[in-house]
Amino acid sequence: MTPCIEAPTRAAIRRAVLLLRAGELVAFPTETVYGLGADAGNSGAVRRIFSAKGRPADHPVIVHLYDPSRLTEWARVVPEDARKLAAAFWPGPLTLILPRAARVDDVVTGGQDSVGLRVPSHPVARALLAAFGGGIAAPSANRFGRISPTTAQHVADDLGNAVTMILDGGACGVGIESTIVAFTGDEPMLLRPGAIGLSDLFGVLGRAPRARDAAAPRASGTLAAHYAPKTPAMLVAANALHAEIAQLGERDEVIAVLARTVARPADFVDMWIDAPAGAAAYAHDLYANLRALDAANVDAILIEAVPRDDAWLAVFDRLARATRGEDDDRD
Ligand code: TXA
Ligand code: MG
Repeated sequence: MTPCIEAPTRAAIRRAVLLLRAGELVAFPTETVYGLGADAGNSGAVRRIFSAKGRPADHPVIVHLYDPSRLTEWARVVPEDARKLAAAFWPGPLTLILPRAARVDDVVTGGQDSVGLRVPSHPVARALLAAFGGGIAAPSANRFGRISPTTAQHVADDLGNAVTMILDGGACGVGIESTIVAFTGDEPMLLRPGAIGLSDLFGVLGRAPRARDAAAPRASGTLAAHYAPKTPAMLVAANALHAEIAQLGERDEVIAVLARTVARPADFVDMWIDAPAGAAAYAHDLYANLRALDAANVDAILIEAVPRDDAWLAVFDRLARATRGEDDDRD
């Protein structure tokens, strides 16, 4: 059986709400990636997310809200800096980790004393949240440890009939997961870089958030081998790409290349993708490109390294994880 991909008509949104209220899973588009949604107030429903994804039960999931004014229903403390970030970037690709309110279930928080909250901007996510009324718990709608989905078809390919309904909102605009800032210590801490960059956060906070450290709350997206394709993948500096291709070619390895500025060699016959040169467009296409490279069933994937400045921080982070190899700790 294949899952039901549906256009986000008003009737489909109504049915999605009924499914959520009945404890079923509904995948839906956000501006970052597709989420696998369940009623955040129904622990049995949230538990189904973990079995559908094959994700360890002690990993927390983000609760999506329609309206930031309901933040205090989920968080018992909202520091002034968190309020400022929410005011500046919500609705949008930002997740805040805050001390949880008493009502928030352990299944949602992974047993931690904090909860991840996000107000997404995608019109379909907003329509669903408005109609549902409550919080929707949703991790990225992929199997645990794999590449996040940025189209409805990606979700269907990954989860099959483990999800009851997939609302189709087309390709996600941002293409990589939200920026996560934790307010669980003395200072805001960046747990996961995203489209909202360090300079954006600096602009609002008047200082940079701390880099994550050993005391950081657990975030599965921060495991080394997260977002990994199945094919071994390697980052290669632009000026070394042609030489690396030639060397692998001599060993008769079939390779797939994700280039950005480097031109395809005239004699190259395997899969070659020219990624956009700008960071936002590159991020938009990244996961679809990684899926295509992975599906080519080659011996190795070569990815042209990207710049390391703030504009590329989130993309660099995902590429570093994607290329770290299969023998890493996957949790
Ligand atoms: O863009 C996004 O954030 C997407 C869309 C669907 O909203 N969601 C997403 O969820 O990427 P997920 O579960 O795949 O990644 C969220 C990360 C996980 O690594 C999780 O461990 C972490 O956020 N997280 C959630 N709640 C947390 C908490 N209370 N403390 C620490 N980390 C938390
Ligand atoms: Mg994820």
